[in-house]
Amino acid sequence: MSFGRQPIANGFLSASEFADEYFFEMEVAICEACATFQLINQPDPERMFHSNYAFFSSLSKHMQQHFKKWADSVTETFLRPVKDPLVIEIGSNDGIMLRNFKKAKIRHLGIEPSENVAQIALDQGINTVCCFFNEQTASEIIKSHGKADVVLAANVMCHIPNIQNVAQGISKLLKEDGVLMFEDPYLGDMLNKTSYDQIYDEHVFIFSAISVSEIFKPHGLELINVEPQITHGGSMRYTFGRIGRHKVHPSVRNIIQKEKFSKFDQRSTFDSFKINCEKSKSDLTALLQSLTSKGKKIVGYAATSKSSTVMNYCDINSDLIAYISDTTPIKIGKFSPGCHIPIVSHDEFSNSYPDYALLLAWNHATEIFEKERSFYASGGRWISFVPKVEILK
Ligand code: TYD
Repeated sequence: MSFGRQPIANGFLSASEFADEYFFEMEVAICEACATFQLINQPDPERMFHSNYAFFSSLSKHMQQHFKKWADSVTETFLRPVKDPLVIEIGSNDGIMLRNFKKAKIRHLGIEPSENVAQIALDQGINTVCCFFNEQTASEIIKSHGKADVVLAANVMCHIPNIQNVAQGISKLLKEDGVLMFEDPYLGDMLNKTSYDQIYDEHVFIFSAISVSEIFKPHGLELINVEPQITHGGSMRYTFGRIGRHKVHPSVRNIIQKEKFSKFDQRSTFDSFKINCEKSKSDLTALLQSLTSKGKKIVGYAATSKSSTVMNYCDINSDLIAYISDTTPIKIGKFSPGCHIPIVSHDEFSNSYPDYALLLAWNHATEIFEKERSFYASGGRWISFVPKVEILK
């Protein structure tokens, strides 16, 4: 299945960079061996994660609370029983998770390849090294810090093409009774909600419980728990331990049975998904065109990475969407990848409300609706495309 020509999803750019913009053909497939839904081609990591990386985790208050809750539960369950424990986070971004361990005076280390976000964490005294995690990095960490009690990763594992090498590194890095916990957008949510916007250059994999079990098994790690999360539009938190060292929670057997029943490991499931994506595309473009032809002003709300797939797949340009408002300083004043829609500050949105706002950060809907009551009160309406294209009541 192809989503056509796609740019770097976080590649916000200036007008002078339009001519040299990089594009790739975004095609997806399911692996016959491990049932992992994945991109067939991906740009080089250095094109996506660099010193101008535009994603800062700490901008969302709800995400700050989510990571605090997670850090507290990791501490209670896995770290308190251990003397001088060590927690390592792969892809620690601006330190949104690790700051909680720092506060609790727990030994911690973040591994973050994007310099600018890593620097924010370092400035707050959060121990961070700026590099990509792999088997070699794992050996270096063992030498400098020793083995880890817990390895964490949030919205990171699905970004790593050489996942086998990373799984090997994690297996080396964990103590005998150590655990790996990671969460990523869940395949089940993507299929149920037709949220194809989860697929973009950085998300090389969209995991299921079946697929992660298969990926980590050859490295001596077994899935011991799964916990669904509402974050990122529907995610799954997976916990792994060394085979036979931990009790396996019944949730694991339940979810694998459910996934097999729903045929997550079979091609026919993805043929239906393709049809749903095509319908979503034609419904969205028809709605935007019809409102535009009636003279309505439509803008985009939040220049998310996800929105890049929607905009480019549906070929939505600035004739349909006047601008996209966003709170990230590094994005403001630039243009959206591929479709070149201007990115403006939130003030521009609140100073003169449009008729309609396309909710591009639909995964943050609760937080956004709370903040934007006066937009609705002024007569403004939200357009959503997940799980279906509609003007929200
Ligand atoms: P997120 O869904 O985390 O993005 P991604 O698809 O990139 O993973 O949303 C983060 C982006 O949304 C970021 O550019 C900031 C923007 N945003 C707003 O502009 N306003 C808001 O109220 C929220 C919650 C996010």
